[in-house]
Amino acid sequence: MRLLMCHPDYYGIEYEINPWMHKEEITNHELAIQQWQKLYQTLTNCGAQIDLIKPIRGWPDMVFTANAGLYFQNKIILPHFKHKERQGELPYFRDWFTQEKFAIANSIPEKKSFFEGAGDALPAGNKLFAGYGFRSDRSFYEETDFFESSQLIYCELQDPYFYHIDTCFCPLNERLAIWYPQAFTQESQIRMAENIELIPVIESEAKHFACNAVVLDQHIILPNDCPQIASLLKKRGFTVHQCDMSEFLKAGGACKCLTLRID
Ligand code: ARG
Repeated sequence: MRLLMCHPDYYGIEYEINPWMHKEEITNHELAIQQWQKLYQTLTNCGAQIDLIKPIRGWPDMVFTANAGLYFQNKIILPHFKHKERQGELPYFRDWFTQEKFAIANSIPEKKSFFEGAGDALPAGNKLFAGYGFRSDRSFYEETDFFESSQLIYCELQDPYFYHIDTCFCPLNERLAIWYPQAFTQESQIRMAENIELIPVIESEAKHFACNAVVLDQHIILPNDCPQIASLLKKRGFTVHQCDMSEFLKAGGACKCLTLRID
C-alpha cells in the first residue's frame, strides 16, 4: 500500500480549531519527530511504501496528510478545508498530486460546502463511509458528481471531540470495522451497523484515538494505551502495533491522520 506522509519539521499548536488543541500546551518538538519517525518505520516494516511531501513553514497541521484529499476509485478528490488556518495547505497538496500524475476528480473546490479528505471519508470495499457534521458537509458529497455512482453511507458526527470520522471509526476490511458509537447520531449508528460489522471501542480508548488506526492487510497500527481493543483485534487474528502519539494527540490527531492512502 502506498501512503503519503509529511515530516513534522514545522508541526506545533499555533491555533485552536478542535477541542483537543490548546495553544498554551507546549508540544515537545524532538519527541514529536521521534514519534513520527517511529510511526514511519513501523509502517515501512509492515510493508507500506511511503511518499513524502515537503513540509512548509507556517502550515503546522500539514503533517496530517489524511486531510490532503481522498483517494477513491483511482482518483484524488481534493479537500476544501473548513478553517482558514488550514486552507493554505491545499495548493501544496494539489501541486504534489499533479506532479505525481494523479487523476484529480474535482477542480479547486469553489463550493460553499467543505470536505476534509480521508479524515472524513473512509472506503470499505466499494462502500464509502461519508462522515459529516463538523469539518465536512453532507452537501459536498451530494453535490460532487464524482460520488454519484458510489454507494455512500452517510455518517453524522455529533461529538466535537470526534470531529473527523477517522477519530471514531476505522474499517479493517470490507466486512469489519472498529468504532466509538457515541460519536455518531442514533440514526447514523443504525445505518452504519446495517452496512458493516462493528467492534465497539470503550470511551477511555476512543479518547486515546484507538480508532485512528492504519490498516495494512493483517497489520493494525494504533496509538498506545488502547489495551482492550488491541487484545480484541489480536483475538480476531490481526497483528497489532502500538505507537506513542502523545505529541500529535495534542493537535487532535494520531497514527491514521498522519497518513493518506494513495493507492
Ligand atoms: N489539528 C488538525 C485539525 O484540527 C488535526 C487533523 C487530524 N486529522 C484527521 N484526519 N483526523 O485539522
